[in-house]
Amino acid sequence: MKEKITEIFTKFTDERDNLIPLLQKIQEELGYLPEESLKEVAKFLHIPESEVFGVGTFYSQFKLKPGGKKTVVVCRGTACHVKGGARIQKDIEKMLGVAPGETTPDMEYTLETVACIGACALAPNVVVDKEIFGQVNARKIKEMFAPAETGTTQD
Ligand code: FES
Repeated sequence: MKEKITEIFTKFTDERDNLIPLLQKIQEELGYLPEESLKEVAKFLHIPESEVFGVGTFYSQFKLKPGGKKTVVVCRGTACHVKGGARIQKDIEKMLGVAPGETTPDMEYTLETVACIGACALAPNVVVDKEIFGQVNARKIKEMFAPAETGTTQD
């Protein structure tokens, strides 16, 4: 992990303005922000650790704990809400057995919610592993979480 962080540092200058971009890059590479990485960032930018931890905990985009292999994001914006987003969220919570912010025990999925993903015309929307599923209904939820078939798919 340390080598990865050191490599990331080579792409940035040690200016304080780079704090958020650096944290974003580390999270992109490691999947979350390990405590050790926050300390390294503080050293690199010559700023107090408390400041780095403060930013890391303030912004919901940053994860301080490892998440699941896939992130499931349920849109809770107005358009999705009007089209049954709350029901969709409840169904997904039930299917995965976790609440927003939690990860399934097998570390497969982390469930999150977001205010609007900017695809309101397709409401209600759910994003699974960066893939947007629009006009989600109970049937689509089952498909989203069905185990991958091997060699028997039909178009
Ligand atoms: S409210 Fe869900 S995409 Fe805009």
